[in-house]
Amino acid sequence: MLAGAALALARRDGIRLPGDLALLAHEPAPFALPGGAGPELLGTLHESLLGRPTRRRRGAYYTPADVAARLVGWAVDGLDRPVVLDPACGGGAFLLEAARHTDRLVAVDIDPLAVAVTEAALLLATGRRPVTHVGDALVDEWPAADVVVGNPPFLSQLRGGTARSRDRAVALGAKGYVDDAALFLLAAARHADRVALLQPESVVSAASAAPVRAEVGPLVERIWVPDRPLFDAAVRVVGVVLDRRAAGIERWSSVLADARGVPAVDIDAQGTLGERCEINAGFRDEYYGLAPFVRERDGAPLITSGLIDPAVCRWGAEPARYGRQRWTAPAVDLAGLASSPLAGWAERQLVPKVLVATQTRVIEAVVDEAGAWLPCTPVLTVVPVDLDPWQVLAVLLAPPVSAWALREAGGAALSGDAVKLSATQLRAIPLPADGPEWDAAAAALRTGDVLAAGAAMGRAYGVDVLGWWSARLPYRGDRD
Ligand SMILES: C[S@@+](CC[C@H](N)C(=O)[O-])C[C@H]1O[C@@H](n2cnc3c(N)ncnc32)[C@H](O)[C@@H]1O
Repeated sequence: MLAGAALALARRDGIRLPGDLALLAHEPAPFALPGGAGPELLGTLHESLLGRPTRRRRGAYYTPADVAARLVGWAVDGLDRPVVLDPACGGGAFLLEAARHTDRLVAVDIDPLAVAVTEAALLLATGRRPVTHVGDALVDEWPAADVVVGNPPFLSQLRGGTARSRDRAVALGAKGYVDDAALFLLAAARHADRVALLQPESVVSAASAAPVRAEVGPLVERIWVPDRPLFDAAVRVVGVVLDRRAAGIERWSSVLADARGVPAVDIDAQGTLGERCEINAGFRDEYYGLAPFVRERDGAPLITSGLIDPAVCRWGAEPARYGRQRWTAPAVDLAGLASSPLAGWAERQLVPKVLVATQTRVIEAVVDEAGAWLPCTPVLTVVPVDLDPWQVLAVLLAPPVSAWALREAGGAALSGDAVKLSATQLRAIPLPADGPEWDAAAAALRTGDVLAAGAAMGRAYGVDVLGWWSARLPYRGDRD
């Protein structure tokens, strides 16, 4: 272990290796590290030595060996001695696995020490040196390769050091902002016949990654969804495997939904919710603009997403969070609001409507029959035009509609398994044919019977996914 680290440091600093260490190159492979530790520990050590800011800036969170083994196995399957390139090699987790299949390895990283660590780890594991290159893989030309593997950096546009991503996206012909990881995917797809890269889950659904999905989609062989969180970085990942001979995919979010066990639903839509309702999302201006007028209990109830359960509004019964504060019953002083820029907005909200929560496991919504509540961003508002609000609620709480929503928009929410619909997606919700089942569901909801309504709506849509849906409810229909 220490010998390997010393080797890496020596390479970084251009020091000629003393005899004993130079001998490592001639040790029979695999070289045994003290305590039975494997060469991959060099990468772990290197990672642990990077400061937190550096780790974040470079997206340096290294990959568990079993994950690298799985992705590499798919990528090299059936190939004879392929050249395998990792353009962001980090501690070498992927190339160490690739070394089990081939001896033609290429390591690239922007961090010279990471390249040195990978080189040392591979030397220890195999007795051979890989081809190496220190450089920016989103700028420099990549060495030729048959297969590209790895875990490129996941960088957020919100973080200061990464604004250059925009320029790189343009350089690669991808319009607008695209996460660096997706740019690595694009570059890899153009560079090699086979690719296996870890990607942030957002690549599946983020609007900004749409150009990358469009180009890479026809090459997708599989999208692998890990069964556990892989990194301490607060980001969920998927493995994307590309193969020039693959059939490709059209709907990326469906793949994610399949992996999560979301049932496929075949809905024969009789129009959409947007054709029969006015649907709007709240804005930040409204969220912040309300602040001076919010007080406890006295006024129009302010309904946050957390207060909405399926068919139940918990305002006053459960605390709410608004403006970094905890409230028992947040309410808006309407008299005060009347002279503010939000007066018109509030007036439009104070009508009979349905409010829809966000970041939930199934769609959760409540009816405000009296038109007395104000939605708190990011709650969505649905004002029926030629439907009864209870009919609208029946649609939103229909089990097939939640399955549809997870397929449409899975991956957009903070948790990979939650629904976060935009107003546009709410408008596109398919409606069932008018009929007795839909009416029965609306009637059941008036009495608070969510399960009976769900069952009736399953019949209205001709799709039975009640079991899947009811297991995801925040309660099992037995409300107090
Ligand atoms: C998640 S780590 C890679 C981990 C490695 N693939 C593994 O599985 O062990 C991301 C790596 O990308 C490197 N990196 C960040 N930006 C890069 C760039 N523009 N070009 C090449 N490497 C980069 C970082 O230095 C870091 O080592």
